[in-house]
Amino acid sequence: MTATDADWDVTLLQRARAAKVRAYAPYSGFRVGAALRTTAGDVFTGVNVENVSFGLTLCAERVAIASMIATAGPASEIHTLAVVGDGHDALLPCGACLQVLSEFGIETRVLASGDGGMPVATTVAELLPRPFSAKRLGQGRNRDDG
Ligand code: THU
Repeated sequence: MTATDADWDVTLLQRARAAKVRAYAPYSGFRVGAALRTTAGDVFTGVNVENVSFGLTLCAERVAIASMIATAGPASEIHTLAVVGDGHDALLPCGACLQVLSEFGIETRVLASGDGGMPVATTVAELLPRPFSAKRLGQGRNRDDG
């Protein structure tokens, strides 16, 4: 039996929520878990990793992307990313994470959730309609994008 997109959404939200428990967030106390599904059907997770030098903190979404590239290689594309933050409200990816997400799929679906309420379903393109594009550099994987 093949999993539907709805099945995948449940799985990804579960994986992100399970990952959140492993976050290293001693400074903010705000834990974030992310789980992404590649177009090839592999799942990678990430958590926020804080540092006493606060600006060095890594967001959960970018940790998941780093895991994807390190494991599945540079041709990876992201189908759907789920992100879950502490607190009731849905956590939408920060601007820096949206820019990095745009590199691996501008049409990537984003499922944003908190500990309560309904997840918000959106896309990278909707959240960051005009990313900085490699088109400006004349190279890179998104060189043909607007
Ligand atoms: N954080 C993420 O992991 N992802 C986001 O998209 C926004 C913020 C983390 C960074 C920091 O450890 C904590 O949330 C509070 O900003």
